[in-house]
Amino acid sequence: MSIEQNYDVKFVAALALREKQIQQNYRPIIAVHKWFARRPGSLFRALLLSEFAGRAVEETYYGAHSFDGIVIADPFMGGGTPLLEANRIGCDVIGADINPMAVWVVREEIEAIDLREYTKAAEGLLNHLSEEIGHLYRTRCPITGRADADAKYFLWVKIGHCRKCQRTFDLFPGYVLARNARHPTYVLVCASCGELNDTDDPARPGMCSCGTRLTAEGPVQRNKCACPHCGHLNSSPFDGDHPPSHRMFAIEYYNPGLKDKQGRLFKKPDLEDLRRMEETESLWRRMRPSFVPEDAIPEGDESSRLHRWGYQNFRDLFNARQLLGLETSARLIARVNDPRIRRALATNFSDLLRYQNMLCRYDTMALKSLDVFSIHGFPVSNVQVESNLLGIRNGNALPVGSGGWINIIEKYTKAKRYCTEPFEVAFRGKRKITVPMRGEWIGERNPERPEAAKRQVDIRCASSTDITLPPSSLNAVLTDPPYFGMVQYGELMHFCYVWLRKLMGEHSPGLELLTTRHADELTGNETAERGLECFAEGLAKVYSRMARALKAGAPLVFTYHHNQQDAYLAVGMAILDAGLTCSASLPCPSEMSGSIHIHGTLSSILDTVFVCRQTGATPRSWLFTDAEGLAVILADELADLRAAGMKPTTGDIRCMAFGHITRMAIWRLKPVWNPKVATPEKFAILRKTMNSIATADAVQKRLERMGVPAATISGSLFCEDDTRTLADAVAF
Ligand SMILES: C[S@@+](CC[C@H](N)C(=O)[O-])C[C@H]1O[C@@H](n2cnc3c(N)ncnc32)[C@H](O)[C@@H]1O
Repeated sequence: MSIEQNYDVKFVAALALREKQIQQNYRPIIAVHKWFARRPGSLFRALLLSEFAGRAVEETYYGAHSFDGIVIADPFMGGGTPLLEANRIGCDVIGADINPMAVWVVREEIEAIDLREYTKAAEGLLNHLSEEIGHLYRTRCPITGRADADAKYFLWVKIGHCRKCQRTFDLFPGYVLARNARHPTYVLVCASCGELNDTDDPARPGMCSCGTRLTAEGPVQRNKCACPHCGHLNSSPFDGDHPPSHRMFAIEYYNPGLKDKQGRLFKKPDLEDLRRMEETESLWRRMRPSFVPEDAIPEGDESSRLHRWGYQNFRDLFNARQLLGLETSARLIARVNDPRIRRALATNFSDLLRYQNMLCRYDTMALKSLDVFSIHGFPVSNVQVESNLLGIRNGNALPVGSGGWINIIEKYTKAKRYCTEPFEVAFRGKRKITVPMRGEWIGERNPERPEAAKRQVDIRCASSTDITLPPSSLNAVLTDPPYFGMVQYGELMHFCYVWLRKLMGEHSPGLELLTTRHADELTGNETAERGLECFAEGLAKVYSRMARALKAGAPLVFTYHHNQQDAYLAVGMAILDAGLTCSASLPCPSEMSGSIHIHGTLSSILDTVFVCRQTGATPRSWLFTDAEGLAVILADELADLRAAGMKPTTGDIRCMAFGHITRMAIWRLKPVWNPKVATPEKFAILRKTMNSIATADAVQKRLERMGVPAATISGSLFCEDDTRTLADAVAF
């Protein structure tokens, strides 16, 4: 009994789609710390149960499980999704990642904590911060006159210097501060006096009270801006070689006395606000920081963008209030005696950083901060947002706004509670039901159930290209490898790591390495001169080592997608070099179509789940020889995905096709594969074989001829008999 038999595309796709809408509500554990490209936990749970629970996944998913003695490895563990799912159902786990930050995060996720002690320490930290710097986050409400309203977000615009007349000017790409989704009107900034104006129609906003005609369009267009003083057309960078400077132009604030007022509260900064900022800057100048890193930002595919904007050191990415708040927080954390609690707060501190920097952007629709990692890069824009460092609580003690200590502490508390009280979310029609998973838990030991057996958790910071595991020791490998060059993990996490290392000390276990970057990271990276061949060779080494450690017939399962078919050559080569056959390629939605990091990129949100074994069986109906055969399989799967609530795009269908074509190419090449030939030759063989089976274009045409456009494929039209049985299976 196995994945090939028990997995159900429709059932799992529905779970994954829901989870990816708000992943924290389904897998609160991910809030321990940001990691990139986390796949849905429900997908890995479904895979594990399909393989080990011995029945159809629909029948086992909502039951509690305990699989003593089963060993699962993940050689690319990242934030730990597959590992935590396996650990939660009682498996022993082995995880490795080359990035010390990933290892830190997974250890923090796994390690038990006394939540009462944590809450006490976190509240203590908040009280101290409030006493020391709380006054820097206050503002006067211009409506009621209340002097100590909480500033929720400070909005800053970059300032340009005219190369000709040397005068300065604001770099607004647009003057819309808020749209009318969460606020009753649009809010526009006056280009002349900076006053904030409500308007129903941003195309015809009328006049500001100062007599200036309002406009939604700002002066910065395509990295060019005419100087408003002399008319000279300046090009970016507008601030020479220095880090950009900013001017505070608006504040969103919170006044509980106005809770019945519709929408949000905005103001133009008044003299008190400006004075408060001057006071902050002078406080910061007088401080002798111990915890602000001095590290330079290295060159990189993502990080070089920061150099182009004039940022040289990580500390340049923060304003004076953020540096003051972070240094004050770090000093308080460094004084916490209990090492477990200190580590937890340091992890929170590191996660907080992504909201407490001057790369955060304000979402004018949702009216919230988009953290630095909301796309998988370092996006620099001309308008930045600074969140209240402490965070705000409303009358019911619930967090208001995002990006402050209160938000992080609240999320972390929920995450750690989930370790001892995990749950699944089921739906009865549209009604959501939380199903407690009594008997399951995350960790090495369960502080709530000291009698429960200890689980083996082996976490390593190393390149999996060199990992050594005993032969025939693993029951499965479940992983989510880098998708060639999609995310630069090392470059991005360096941003948090330099602070965490400074706070905890370079001799702190797990923080000995200087950087999160590594030459052996398996990501395509132009700056580091790592291309597709390098990626394929690395992946092949890892899978070969994993294959040797797997028990006979045990699966290596991994997710993958890429918009370029060539990126699948690496996958095909790695599986074949490892001596495995691909017995299934299953589609599963793993991103949210609206995700900011893929918005507008036409990227697919569908992963192919590749199931590979040395020996096993695959249903005969999954084997195809041409585009026509593949179209029948795709039509069936598309129907399942639509029934699960997904609307597959052309990009999704191409990725599904790439996955299946790769599987069949492996199937054909396995008997004749020679792992000793050079990589370019292997690529050529794979490419030829793939193209001789089918091309994505031919399959798409075939689907169209069948009258099946992606968005209108219905559940009944092409659905074949869905009863999966390995009675009609092909053994390998
Ligand atoms: C897609 S992420 C994994 C995401 C993860 N499944 C999660 O849920 O967060 C891929 C991971 O592979 C790691 N990685 C890249 N090259 C590696 C190597 N040579 N050895 C071990 N890990 C590596 C990256 O650091 C990254 O964390």
